Amino acid sequence: MAAQKGKIVCVTGAGGFVGSWLVKHLLSNNYTVHGTVRNPMDEKNGHLKKLEKASENLKLFKADLLDYESLRAAIVGCDGVFHTASPVPPSSVPDPEVELIKPAVDGTLNVLKACCEVDVKKVVYVSSVAAISVIPNRPDRPLDETFWSDQELCRSNNDWYCLSKTKAESEAWEFSKTNGIEFLSVCPTLISGPMLQNTINASSLILIKLLRGFISLGAEGYEELENRSRLIVDVRDLADALILVYEKPEANGRYICTSHEIRSKELVEILKKYYPNYNYPKKFIEPKGKLSATSQKLRELGWSYRPLEETLVDSVESYIEKGILGKN
Ligand SMILES: NC(=O)c1ccc[n+]([C@@H]2O[C@H](COP(=O)([O-])OP(=O)(O)OC[C@H]3O[C@@H](n4cnc5c(N)ncnc54)[C@H](OP(=O)(O)O)[C@@H]3O)[C@@H](O)[C@H]2O)c1
Repeated sequence: MAAQKGKIVCVTGAGGFVGSWLVKHLLSNNYTVHGTVRNPMDEKNGHLKKLEKASENLKLFKADLLDYESLRAAIVGCDGVFHTASPVPPSSVPDPEVELIKPAVDGTLNVLKACCEVDVKKVVYVSSVAAISVIPNRPDRPLDETFWSDQELCRSNNDWYCLSKTKAESEAWEFSKTNGIEFLSVCPTLISGPMLQNTINASSLILIKLLRGFISLGAEGYEELENRSRLIVDVRDLADALILVYEKPEANGRYICTSHEIRSKELVEILKKYYPNYNYPKKFIEPKGKLSATSQKLRELGWSYRPLEETLVDSVESYIEKGILGKN
């Protein structure tokens, strides 16, 4: 059966944490999906082939962000593109310009250039609150979509991931305006929730370390954790948000995607209620400042989200099921 108009889409980074859930939700909403992965034969992408409707409606393409032709081959024939692929390292990398900034920025521009060439008009880009929150003086009110991270401040803080996302998003906006692409960006905060893929992604690792009593730097045996305020969104709610902005004709501009604001200590208290026996951090150090952001614009478009406890419990259950955590 031929796909309906607007229903053939490309998802870059299909095998990643966000990409996998987005592909799953698109398939269950009767989309035909062209998913890009770096290696379709790699077992790490095996979960995609097992998704419901994947055998009929998912086609995987081998593509690298820095290989224009490979991206173009996946995008041709699509009505829209969801661009999620970008490096998200769990810790610092030796050469951030090459490993982070180039693939994020040039990769995003390659996607947009291919869209121009093959006449795809609508692109939904997964940016980040990292492209919003690195500013010299945070206001007293929650951050909204009018804020942009200061690229010089990112550089001087060695905040290379934030720089990669800020530069990629701002250059993408410029390119899209000049070339008549309908571009929408969604800026999630920390993404949590169950993993479909078997390899641990950077944001899931944050929660896993909390359950194992590690501090964020990854050193084993530390018992103290900064009691920072975390802004969390569930990966499944993010996937819904991406589809919502793609489908709603009135969607425009940037959308912050966040659901819950919580301190690390409270997060541990919730987890302890369900899983009392993991090796949680025992002391909390009070941090300076806090991050606050609002998703009011996305909620006005019709987005809603699940309770935090559901996200946390489903996350832990997925780590147990994959053998990452022992049973509690
Ligand atoms: N997780 C969060 O808390 C969070 C928060 C805000 C925004 N985001 C954004 O969400 C998006 C998805 O992140 P994620 O959490 O799902 O991380 P992830 O699981 O690490 O996924 C990243 C994806 O990007 C792909 N990728 C990286 N470099 C590539 C390259 N040179 N060519 C082709 N593909 C490349 C990876 O492919 P391989 O599998 O081959 O490595 C992977 O599929 C990213 O744009 C990230 O910046 C994430």
